[in-house]
Formats: sequence, structure tokens, C-alpha cells
Amino acid sequence: MKYYITTPIYYVNDVPHIGHAYTTIAADALARWNKMHKKDVFFLTGTDEHGAKIMQAAQKKGQSPKEFCDSVSAQFRDAWSSLDIEYDGFIRTTDPLHEAAVRQLLTKLNEAGDIYKKKYEGMYCVQCEKFLMPGDLNEDLCCPDHKQKPVTHSEENYFFRLSKYQDKLLELLSDPAKAGGIGIYPDGRRNEILGKLKLGLEDISISRAKLEWGIPLPFDNTQTVYVWVDALINYISALGYTAGDKKFKTYWPADLHLVGKDILWFHSVIWPAMLLSCGIELPRRIFAHGFFTIDKQKMSKTIGNVISPAQLIERFGVDASRYLALALFPFGADGDISWDALTERYNIDLANNIGNLLSRTITMVGKYFTFEVPRVEAGKNPYAPKVQAAIDVLRETNELFTACEFSRILEKIQEAVDIANELVETTAPWKMAKEKNPDLEKVLFSLLQILGLITVYLYPFMPKTAQKIWQAIGQKDKLAGVDPSGLKDVSMLTFPSAKEKLGPSQILFPRI
Ligand code: MSP
Repeated sequence: MKYYITTPIYYVNDVPHIGHAYTTIAADALARWNKMHKKDVFFLTGTDEHGAKIMQAAQKKGQSPKEFCDSVSAQFRDAWSSLDIEYDGFIRTTDPLHEAAVRQLLTKLNEAGDIYKKKYEGMYCVQCEKFLMPGDLNEDLCCPDHKQKPVTHSEENYFFRLSKYQDKLLELLSDPAKAGGIGIYPDGRRNEILGKLKLGLEDISISRAKLEWGIPLPFDNTQTVYVWVDALINYISALGYTAGDKKFKTYWPADLHLVGKDILWFHSVIWPAMLLSCGIELPRRIFAHGFFTIDKQKMSKTIGNVISPAQLIERFGVDASRYLALALFPFGADGDISWDALTERYNIDLANNIGNLLSRTITMVGKYFTFEVPRVEAGKNPYAPKVQAAIDVLRETNELFTACEFSRILEKIQEAVDIANELVETTAPWKMAKEKNPDLEKVLFSLLQILGLITVYLYPFMPKTAQKIWQAIGQKDKLAGVDPSGLKDVSMLTFPSAKEKLGPSQILFPRI
């Protein structure tokens, strides 16, 4: 089965920050989880490079727009490789393949009779790249997001008959279970979109008259394609839509578009309407995550509280950064991030809990069994119910992956760690050793088993760390190749023969 997952493509007028990383880490975890389930996964990300904002940013730096885009787009790729993001495709809207797809799609929209020309005058916010309605402005008559006065802008543009698709969209978005319907999640966000849809849809302008840094319209090269229309097409251009590529046939429609709540309207209304007009299948699911503030303040360059992936990695390391980004609050909700909260969580979940469980387990295997892996015959382990309890908790995460409830998955993983730690507390292996209790071997074997199972679930979030734990407890196969579907027992673990030894204990997460 195939699984096509996308992040938004990021504007190159900004360098990578924790907001971009948030969506990308989540998508990577889902991609890895689905790869473990042997699905044929295509995970797409990329950069959005046209428009006035980007032209201005390039001018400020004294660079040509293309030079500027090349350098920032590379910074995104570097950020993703530093965070161990394993994407399958990276699309740039300046790629010739993308530009060709945009021209082809615009031609189709036009041929469908969905494009017309109209004079338009309105208040335009350059930062948002969109016209604002009077009701959108704040009390100073500025854009509420950018605190800048919009400019009055009048031009003759091409329009897309979005209004034509209102009823169809209402029908398709209302019932995710319906064939061909789109699932919008979380439910609250779907209701917001439906509420807005019911108020009516206006046609939207899809071109700009004077903008040079954009893709010329195929039917009027004095105008360029509106950046949002250009950008949305990335999801099919990257699959080689125009080239008649096999990739498009294999992976489209998208199984999941992951987006921030700020751009849900574009993805759940404008994008599907464009696809309907062209007779292309619709994406199956769109999940909108919340926004976070930093120390209760909006993240902004002016406030100077922007956190970069590099800063996170410097403090916590790669895998802990990935873990922490998704651990602090539910993915669908808004939340707050602070260095203190991140550090506290790091110490509790990673240093004290998971890290400590591994190091104490290996230390005990070393001390009591000279590092030889204990063996216990199946059916003869009095602590098997504890292992089963961990399996039951971990199994509950399967649905949570589908629902993008990452923080709850991580909580479940911690619950499984707690089960192992409790087993240590209640059996007190140090006493058992003194008393030469033969069950000591069984306790340690059970701990290794629980650690192994936890590791399978930890892998999508912390790929390198999980692989280290996997090796530390003597597992031989490559962890990425383990298929956790249908987890019922410990059969996915293979321990070495009793003669083999584990390596020395290691500290995965030094306390901060
Ligand atoms: N280029 C468009 C997307 C086009 S997709 C066809 C865009 N780019 S962006 O660079 O502005 O990226 C924004 C992404 O980062 C959004 O998904 C947004 O929700 C996310 N975030 C930016 N700041 C954020 C927070 N403070 N919190 C959470 N996510 C944030 O929009």
C-alpha cells in the first residue's frame, strides 16, 4: 500500500525555525512509522520561492531572486538533514518541472471555463500576499499579523470561479467517510471551515499584473500566477504530474497534507476546488496543527525569540529535539514552548526515565551476569504479565498515529517505561542478587524485552537513539525494518544466544 505525506513548502523569505521544524518532524515521524509498516511511502517537503516578499528579501541582500532562493532553499535542506529528516522528495517552486505543471494546471482551469478577467481594487498586505477585507484589519487599520498598513491596490486580474464549487465542497468536506470526501482534522477545525464555507465563497484572483518574480500565465504572459495557486500545485508537480511520471499515478492522491492552522483554508477549500475544476482526485486527509508561542509570546524576529533547529540541537541533541518538539502539547492544539519547559521535559522523560532505564538495566546485566544476555524459556517467565502490560499500552498508540496525537503516543511510551521501572522497584534485583534468587535472570530479561518494545515505538521520533538502544540490548536486525503491525507478543524481538555479551552501559541523555 502507498502512503503519500506532505508538509507545506516553506517560504524562503525566512530561514528555518522551530515552527517549520515542528511540521517537518511530525511528517517525518509519520513517514517512518508507515515505512516500518512496509508501506510504499513518499514524503514530500520543499521551498516556496516566488512572490513579492521574496523579491524584496532578495533586493535587501543585494542578490538576484534566484541566487537568494538557492541559498535559503539550501538552508532548509541543511536544517532537515541536521534533524535527520528522511524526505523522499524536495520540491522548489523554481524547478522547471514545477513551473511546467503550474502552466498545465492553469491551462486546464482556463479550459474548464473557470477563469475570467476582472478589474479589482482592494487593500493588499504584501507580507500576507493577499487582499484583506475591512473586517480583517485591527483597530489601527493594519494587518493584524504584520502590523503594517495594507496598500490600496487596483489591477485587472484573472479570477478563478471558486464560488462555483461551494456546494460540492460542502458535500465533500462534511463527511470524511464518504468516498472521495476529504477528512479535515481535528474535528474542530473541520467545523470552522464548514462554518466559513456556508457563509459563501467569493471568486479569487489568481494572477498579479506587475510581479516579475513568478510564473507567467500560460494564456497571458503579462501576468504571473498568484503565489498561493503556484505553491499548492507543488503537491502534484513534485510527483511529475506534467511529465506523465509513474510517481503521480502511484502516489496521488495525497494520504495526508500536514499543515499549520493558518494555512488550512488554502488547503481545504482553494486546493480541492482547483483539483475539482481539473478533474484530478482530491487529497484524502488534511491535518491542521496548532501554533505555539515562545514564553507566551508570538515568535517573531522583532521580539528576538525565534528558536532555530540549530539552537535546539546544540542544547538537546538531534533526537531529543525531535522528541521534545512533539512532546510538550497536543499536535492539534495551540501551546507554549520555553527553554525551561523543554529542559524540564528532557530531564524527566529522557534523562531520568528512558535513559536511566537503559543504563540501569545494562549495568545490572553486567554486574550480575557479566553482561551475558539472560535467557528465559517462553511460558516460564513469572514477569510476563508486566511485559504484556507494556505491550498493551504500546498497542494503544496505533490509533494515535493515525490521529496525529503525537504527544499522547510519547506519553504511552513513557507509561511503558514506568512499567519497567516499577518492575525494578518491586522486585529489587540487588536484593535478589544477594539472596541468589534464580528469578533475577527473569526480571532482567523482562526489562530487556520491554526496552526492546519501547524502542520500536520510539524509532519514528528518535531514529538514531532507538537504533542505539536496540543494539545495546543485543538486537541484531535493523530496527527500521521491524514491522510493528499486529504487535501481540514479544516475537518481534530476537535476543542473542546466552553466550553473547552486551556492550557496556552508556549514557544516552546526560542530564541538563
Ligand atoms: N509557503 C506557505 C505554504 C505553502 S503550502 C502549499 C507558507 N510557508 S511558511 O514558511 O510561512 O510556513 C509556514 C508553516 O510553518 C505553516 O505550516 C505554519 O503553520 C508553520 N509555522 C510557522 N510558525 C509557527 C508557529 N509559531 N507555530 C507552529 N507552526 C508555525 O505558509
